[in-house]
Amino acid sequence: MKFANRISNLPPYLFAELNKSVNARRMAGIDVINFGIGDPDVPPPSFILDSLSLEVHDPRNMAYPNYYGLPEMRRAIAEWYKGRFNVSLDPDHETLPLIGSKEGIANLATAMLDPGDIALVPSPGYPVYQLGTLLVDGVSYLMPCTEATDYLPDFDAIPPRIAEQARVLWLNYPNNPTGATVGLDFFKRAVEYAHRYDILIAHDNPYSDIYFDDYCPPSILQVDGAKEVAVEFNSLSKTYSMAGARIGMVVGNARVVEALGRVKSNIDSGVFTAVQCTAIKALTSDQSWIPQRNKIYERRRDVLVAALCKAELPVRKPKASLYLWGKVPQGFTAMEFAFHLLDEIGVFVTPGSGFGEYGEGHFRMSLTVADQQVDDAVQRLARLKL
Ligand SMILES: Cc1ncc(COP(=O)(O)O)c(C=O)c1O
Repeated sequence: MKFANRISNLPPYLFAELNKSVNARRMAGIDVINFGIGDPDVPPPSFILDSLSLEVHDPRNMAYPNYYGLPEMRRAIAEWYKGRFNVSLDPDHETLPLIGSKEGIANLATAMLDPGDIALVPSPGYPVYQLGTLLVDGVSYLMPCTEATDYLPDFDAIPPRIAEQARVLWLNYPNNPTGATVGLDFFKRAVEYAHRYDILIAHDNPYSDIYFDDYCPPSILQVDGAKEVAVEFNSLSKTYSMAGARIGMVVGNARVVEALGRVKSNIDSGVFTAVQCTAIKALTSDQSWIPQRNKIYERRRDVLVAALCKAELPVRKPKASLYLWGKVPQGFTAMEFAFHLLDEIGVFVTPGSGFGEYGEGHFRMSLTVADQQVDDAVQRLARLKL
């Protein structure tokens, strides 16, 4: 049997692989506290769970869903964008529900890239921007987003001949894995850059509603002229703790939304209707529980930042997202350090190198671990020997 070359170039999905190491230790009876994955542990409010169980019991919802989402779902997305960001969207042409934003991110490459076309991809970054590009034989040009650039891409450092060949520019703020955040001034610069080189900006915004202190993340679509050059991905996974239900959205430029819808309607059959009905409830109901929920993540952030600094593991204190981003001590690679922590104190963190070459020398710690375990990890860090 001969496989496509692209499969041999495709690494196994990092989180799936690392999870195997954690599970192997757990099977051997080791108590591991897993800070590796950004899977919200704080449950959604009961009205969301009640809605899902009600909708699942309606046999009509077992039919194939509408390819482009229920009209009510598209309206709910538009209403949510209006309420949350003051961004007006045409529900029929500028919104599209996704089976989680991950599939939309990967499928966007099919809609936008021919073989050899360039995608500008942040490094470190969410791996799917690069993997989606690889799957259509596109080429990723890595934009370093490190401490040296204040965790932002430096557009002036991209050679003009690369920018001229680029079709897509990926951005993600609040950022996974660095926790970096931006204001509208950065998005304005990005929109100007995209206009200059005729590039689509794909802004990935799934952490828009996990924020702390006095910061509130914007949407790139708040910038004048953004819709001409940008789409934004968002998700109910983090904001509504619905990661397992698989529902997200793409909004913005109507031609790109249409093209992605055309790709998807040929390869999938839409989001489970019961999940869409639940998502409509989530998006259109009282949102006041969200700031209260964010306080839980904020406390974990504060406790862990203090404990890590005490253990001489300096980390950024993020104003949003679910992640702490720290430097590994001298003498370790990111992977070695992750396994050192795992073996020494049973604490698992994600090696930064898994987020691209500019993530080397760092680790990521997720805030989606129960309070009790966070407090336990603080004790363990206090006895860490480096
Ligand atoms: C930056 C980023 N984008 C997209 C996703 C995918 O989210 P979803 O559950 O909507 O597929 C994640 C999930 O961790 C993420 O971190």
